[in-house]
Amino acid sequence: MRAYFITATGTDIGKTYLACSLIRAWREHGLKVAAFKPVLSGFDAGHAGESDAGRLLTALDEPISPQSLDAISPWRYAAPLSPDVAAAKEGKRVDYGAVLAACRRFLRGEHDVALIEGAGGVMSPLSEDRTMLDWMADLRLPVILVAGSYLGTVSHSLTALSVLEERGVPVRLVVISETEGGSVPLAESALALTRRWAAAPVYFLPRGAPPQATGIIADTLLAG
Ligand SMILES: Nc1ncnc2c1ncn2[C@@H]1O[C@H](COP(=O)(O)OP(=O)(O)OP(=O)(O)O)[C@@H](O)[C@H]1O
Ligand SMILES: [Mg+2]
Repeated sequence: MRAYFITATGTDIGKTYLACSLIRAWREHGLKVAAFKPVLSGFDAGHAGESDAGRLLTALDEPISPQSLDAISPWRYAAPLSPDVAAAKEGKRVDYGAVLAACRRFLRGEHDVALIEGAGGVMSPLSEDRTMLDWMADLRLPVILVAGSYLGTVSHSLTALSVLEERGVPVRLVVISETEGGSVPLAESALALTRRWAAAPVYFLPRGAPPQATGIIADTLLAG
């Protein structure tokens, strides 16, 4: 089984968009795909279908129900804040050990490809004393880093890549998801990044990309 962790340089960059496109591409190949977004904040039960959990379930062709939501996103919080703060608003704490254990159980499932989506960016707070980076370092899965195409993305991407490398987290590839109204052409962001960081291949995901655009990324990830 192949498994990847999807992270990003920040929030709302395109992790779930990419995850759903990859899931659809792999399912079209007849593969058994699974996704896990264990910690989800900004969850509104009245609009569950629009949440990350709902979007992932739809891409997996699974119904959206209390059971399926509990399975794909067991820790859901209402406030659209980092998970530690969103949990505190409900008088709760994110139990990091439990999140890690749930990920390891998920990864033992019988799937051809499995994706875990983080929350926010590489160093967004997860629990009171852990960030997404700590989580990725503990899981040791190859990472897909999603970046935007706005002015400033090169700095955000290089910073993210540097801390991931420093913690020994392998980055399989970088995907630049075109930012809505972004002022920098995708190819320029990608070139600027590859010239300074040759270790990870960079792929484009244009706005509203046709399925073939993700198909290439999906095939590359299957190849190892
Ligand atoms: N390449 C793209 N083409 C079209 N829409 C996109 C693209 N990338 C992102 N989006 C849209 O931008 C919004 C934010 O993307 P998405 O929800 O995937 O971000 P995220 O990184 O998963 O955010 P979060 O940190 O909340 O999990 C969504 O409405 C998504 O559909
Ligand atoms: Mg998301």
